[in-house]
Amino acid sequence: MTTSGQPRTQWLGRWGFILAATGSAVGLGNIWKFPYITGEFGGGAFVLVYLACIFAVGVPVMMTEIAFGRRGQGSPVDAIRRVVNESGRASAWSLVGWMAMLCGFMVLSFYVVVAGWSFSYLWKMLTGGLAGSSVDDMAAVFGANNANPLTLGFWSTLVTLLTMLIVGKGVQKGIEKSVSWMMPGLVVMLVVLIGFGMFSGGFGDAVSFLFSFNAGSLSSEGLLAALGHAFFTLSLASGAILTYGSYLPKGASIGRTTVSVAVADTVVALMAGLAIFPVIFANGMNPGEGPGLIFMSLPLAFQAMPLGTLFGILFFLMLSMAALTSAISMVEATVSWLCDNKGLSRPAASWGTGIVLWLISTLAMLSFNLGADWTLAGKTFFDWLDYLTSRWMMPLGGLGMVVLAGFILKSDTFRDELGLAPLPYALWLTMVRYVSPLGIVVIFVDALGVYQVSFAAHWPWLLGILVAMAALGETLSPRLRHALRTS
Ligand code: TRP
Repeated sequence: MTTSGQPRTQWLGRWGFILAATGSAVGLGNIWKFPYITGEFGGGAFVLVYLACIFAVGVPVMMTEIAFGRRGQGSPVDAIRRVVNESGRASAWSLVGWMAMLCGFMVLSFYVVVAGWSFSYLWKMLTGGLAGSSVDDMAAVFGANNANPLTLGFWSTLVTLLTMLIVGKGVQKGIEKSVSWMMPGLVVMLVVLIGFGMFSGGFGDAVSFLFSFNAGSLSSEGLLAALGHAFFTLSLASGAILTYGSYLPKGASIGRTTVSVAVADTVVALMAGLAIFPVIFANGMNPGEGPGLIFMSLPLAFQAMPLGTLFGILFFLMLSMAALTSAISMVEATVSWLCDNKGLSRPAASWGTGIVLWLISTLAMLSFNLGADWTLAGKTFFDWLDYLTSRWMMPLGGLGMVVLAGFILKSDTFRDELGLAPLPYALWLTMVRYVSPLGIVVIFVDALGVYQVSFAAHWPWLLGILVAMAALGETLSPRLRHALRTS
């Protein structure tokens, strides 16, 4: 129920939630970031750890988030407050919701800038503006693209406008309708690009790079990157998934939908790898090039290949659409909060949010030109937004939610809402009580820089500590034993 007593909007189709949540999850994180960090951290071993993080931490946290949303029927702030009140706990816990909502908004403020890069490259591809014959030329194009605040600002403003336009149209007519053609379109384009990659001569190298396991190449830094990226790529702890979950019909299975979204997100990331690395290897480029990987090396490769302009257009179109379906999810929490609590109409809430967003994202955009030396502790405004959200707010919000669900709230709440059989429920509970919080704490320890753990060397110890903690916790608490006994 909203404050006006109206039942909350729901997704229209059976696929509404899955498409929208997958649209949120699949974004620049999958197509831009996943390939370049995989390249940096050495391929196969990183991929394996990343998969483990997605399923051991990402899935349980996502289930918890969706359950909060559907149980509480509202934006993160309202939903969490209602769910904790239901267990007789203090409303102050809704701070977790405030932080998530703020986090989604802050992520979007820098995300529109990167999405703007993608749109501008699409434009350059369409108009033949990406000519150049070496990686250095491409680096120069990338630099020039960032140097002029008016053009860069034009592209991030365009992304902001498109985002608010879709969100303003509402859940069914805006979000659901747009994702229901953008997501299938994206998959088709990826398949075409992989098909091209198969004949490019670099496909075998790409497959062995992505899937051959070489334990020696795994660093503790890689492990942390994998964990952080699992949060980012699944859009966790920033209000997006929680709010989308509040539109999920009661009958839908949270476990099954979550697994579908996580699998789809993972498949797209791996497909993006299979589309991008063949091009990199066939052209003798370095997979560990960093954030510029797709913007600097791919356009060059596209020029060298037959029908390259066409493939280039497809690629940047796909990237832009993926970015847009993620961007809309990041403001949905704020817009829905404004509608429910301030009595605003969707369009009004959306344009109001858009104006504030535009101001902040303009500051973020200026970090690449005029404001490049407005730094604090060596970080630009853009860097700060990225750092605060992914290193601090997402892990902290995630921790808040799993601790609430695992230890503080009445066990019936989540047992009901998740509707799992006893064994999967026990598994979920173990994950949210021990595995996810421990993983998150590890991110914090690293972020504080107090202690650098070498996971590669110490994993047997760490695993032992985890098992001991779980055993101790569970002998003290009857909840999991009960769940296991009834299975
Ligand atoms: N998951 C998206 C991606 O991989 C990004 C994203 C969407 C996101 N919503 C979010 C990241 C909320 C953090 C918070 O690109």
